[in-house]
Amino acid sequence: MNIMDNIRKFQAGLKDVTHGANFTIVEPSNMYGCVLGDDCFVGPFVEIQRSVNIGDRTRIQSHTFICELVNIGSDCFIAHGVMFINDLFEFGHPNTDPELWRETHIGDNVSIGSNATILPVKVCSNVVIGAGAVVTKDIDKPGIYVGNPARLVREIDPEAKAG
Ligand SMILES: CC(C)(COP(=O)(O)OP(=O)(O)OC[C@H]1O[C@@H](n2cnc3c(N)ncnc32)[C@H](O)[C@@H]1OP(=O)(O)O)[C@@H](O)C(=O)NCCC(=O)NCCS
Repeated sequence: MNIMDNIRKFQAGLKDVTHGANFTIVEPSNMYGCVLGDDCFVGPFVEIQRSVNIGDRTRIQSHTFICELVNIGSDCFIAHGVMFINDLFEFGHPNTDPELWRETHIGDNVSIGSNATILPVKVCSNVVIGAGAVVTKDIDKPGIYVGNPARLVREIDPEAKAG
């Protein structure tokens, strides 16, 4: 028997992806059962799993992982290598029962810096999360959050315009 016969091999690609107008994707990426709004961008080496919802004009940069039970609003920027988490291993090992996984909700106009990790939390609109931050708790005030665990370093006024 050829040893190659023992391999279960799946091809990365797009399966059952619903998207709005003007969708751009850079292959290879692995996306299945997810929904994206209009004018979205997905860079290379991204995985987006089933039931994920992503709003209009949101951009997902390369090497990011977005797992089941994550919702991301409109006008968000998810930088490179951002990791979302739905299983906390709270019983000492990975939970194979999806009923035990937790949801994450990201509001509108949220920018998440490169290499950030987002545990199952709610993040309100108009938030910046610094590069490398680990978000362990809900964020309910607009502002800039950095570090592990992520803490507020500066409030931002969502109405203020860049000079
Ligand atoms: C957090 C960030 C937005 C800067 O926010 P800011 O309010 O202007 O922060 P400052 O630069 O004034 O720094 C404030 C403090 O936070 C610290 N800090 C800044 N960014 C940090 C980060 N990512 N992680 C940990 N600490 C950070 C600074 O060292 C400073 O600490 P100090 O007060 O002890 O000196 C920026 O540093 C960042 O991480 N941006 C993400 C960019 C990114 O990932 N882009 C991807 C596309 S290339």
